[in-house]
Amino acid sequence: MAVRDQSTTQPLIARRAEWLPYHLPSIGEEEIAEVVDTLRSGWVTTGAKTQRFEQDFARILGVPEALAVASGTAAMHLALIVNGVQAGDDVIVPTYTFTATAEVVTYLGARPVLADVDPVTCNMTTETLQRVLTPRTRAVMVVHIAGQPCDMDPILEVARAHGLKVIEDAAHAFPARYRGRWVGTLGDAAAFSFYATKNITTAEGGMLVMPDPTARERARILALHGISRDAWKRYTAAGSWYYEVLASGYKYNLSDLHASLGLQQLRKVDRFHAIRRRYVARYQEGLRDLDAFSTPSEVSGTEHAWHLYLLRLRPGVLAIDRNTFIEELRARNIGTSVHFIPLHLHPYYRDIWGYHPGDFRAAEAAYEATVSLPLYPAMTERDVDDVIQAIHDIVGRNCR
Ligand SMILES: Cc1ncc(COP(=O)(O)O)c(C=O)c1O
Repeated sequence: MAVRDQSTTQPLIARRAEWLPYHLPSIGEEEIAEVVDTLRSGWVTTGAKTQRFEQDFARILGVPEALAVASGTAAMHLALIVNGVQAGDDVIVPTYTFTATAEVVTYLGARPVLADVDPVTCNMTTETLQRVLTPRTRAVMVVHIAGQPCDMDPILEVARAHGLKVIEDAAHAFPARYRGRWVGTLGDAAAFSFYATKNITTAEGGMLVMPDPTARERARILALHGISRDAWKRYTAAGSWYYEVLASGYKYNLSDLHASLGLQQLRKVDRFHAIRRRYVARYQEGLRDLDAFSTPSEVSGTEHAWHLYLLRLRPGVLAIDRNTFIEELRARNIGTSVHFIPLHLHPYYRDIWGYHPGDFRAAEAAYEATVSLPLYPAMTERDVDDVIQAIHDIVGRNCR
């Protein structure tokens, strides 16, 4: 539909008739039926469906057990506790992430020590990690940004050399592989997120995966008020009213209502991933001849989860900056987002932890130039083409 752009009076040739949201979840009849089945069952909180969701997830990753929790944030919090992080410890966190990754460190009275990232992948590297190591460093949180696995082998080697625990923030990285191994099975713990925008969703939810059975057992107890294992069964015929409180825990359990969504989403994970890959290939092809951008790529030896498509403006090619580029897309009815505002630029990390703009140049440069394009199975190829066409239109009008 051609409409007039009032500022230039030129026709906007690539304006969609309808708003394309930055994200929509893919909730089908299967998810709806599973939730209705749970509602009718008389058991809506943690129970058999959550247990099945855990088992199905663990089977995919090839691990003995997974713990379903209320959020990815809860999973990270538990991971830090059972890996021995305590008040006074330092935990290294990349600045290029969502605040949850560092926030959980502060829950324990520990200090989030921020690190810069690789200028291309926006992932933490051994080099950026080693720059901020302190004698108090106890653990490292690695974030697989956008679903691109971090280069884990050298990171694990540095961590081992310094006696550090490695927690994977795999919120973006399901399904993803590193040198043939599943992301989420590489360190001492991994936290997945099933937040509404993630590759699979339970509306809110998360999963904790750990190789150490003792840590897993402890996390399971802490996730439900510190009460003895399987206490959730106490209202079933198989259960008993008796339970013991073994520790001061948390209310981090996932409900069967949420798990119902997860059970059905898991069955679609390969299909969703294939669609994401197809749309990424379409973006790559459609944007290939524009020198205004660097497009994301998959590092060799890894399989990208393609949670986000991070398009980066090359400096000096366009006459507009990233913010105006976003506004131009919005004017063409296309929603976008920005991942992430580096933590050290937020007032909290500045005022409480003493960080300043300029502390982490690679992260800042990436932040200032990057936009996340819509990428999700509920959109169509036609939608992808609309985004590509809109971008061509913007570039055509705004080249220097
Ligand atoms: C990198 C990253 N880590 C952690 C989280 C937190 O996950 P949740 O919302 O499930 O707590 C998010 C976003 O939600 C995220 O993007």
